[in-house]
Amino acid sequence: MTALSGSEGRATNPPRGEVRTWLVTSPHEMADVYHIRHEVFVLEQGFARDVRDNPDDRFSSHVLAEVDGQVVGTGRVTFYGDEAQIVWVAVLKPYRNRGVGRAVMEHLLRLCDEQGSQLISLNAQTHALRFYESLGFEPVGRRFYMANIEHQCMVRLQPNREAS
Ligand code: COA
Repeated sequence: MTALSGSEGRATNPPRGEVRTWLVTSPHEMADVYHIRHEVFVLEQGFARDVRDNPDDRFSSHVLAEVDGQVVGTGRVTFYGDEAQIVWVAVLKPYRNRGVGRAVMEHLLRLCDEQGSQLISLNAQTHALRFYESLGFEPVGRRFYMANIEHQCMVRLQPNREAS
């Protein structure tokens, strides 16, 4: 299965099929992860120059998402003791607003549940604040700029694990 280019001509007729997500287990699937990151964070946003071999990648869990057999979304969670950090959540542009990002996040959150994570954090690009708020994340602290894109730290205390 090969991920599409974000610029391939599907913007006017994106798929509406069911979203399937899964945990990455092979180097071949990691190539799809890097492809989607590259399309979104390098080519589209100019946020990063190189999205491969991020130091924590090998210690992290990666999720891919497909619609109609096309791999179009990804995200990563890294576990640090009782905490989890979510990064590199991306959906190819022509496939946005179809529930792919939500499906990726819900899979990552299930992994956090399985690990018994008590607190999940992420640095949200501020355009996506409502997306993350709808998934139970709350803003913490002041907004800041990373690679010229405004960000906001957000956290989610896991249900039934609220700090006393
Ligand atoms: N601003 C506000 N709301 C948004 C949003 C945005 N940028 N993106 C999605 N939403 C909302 C949707 O309307 C939807 O709401 P609903 O469930 O009430 O209908 C919900 O969030 C889920 O949307 P979904 O279709 O699953 O999101 P997506 O597949 O478009 O993926 C991103 C969302 C943020 C992953 C995607 O826009 C993306 O890849 N952006 C570029 C990379 C990026 O910014 N990544 C995040 C880094 S922090």
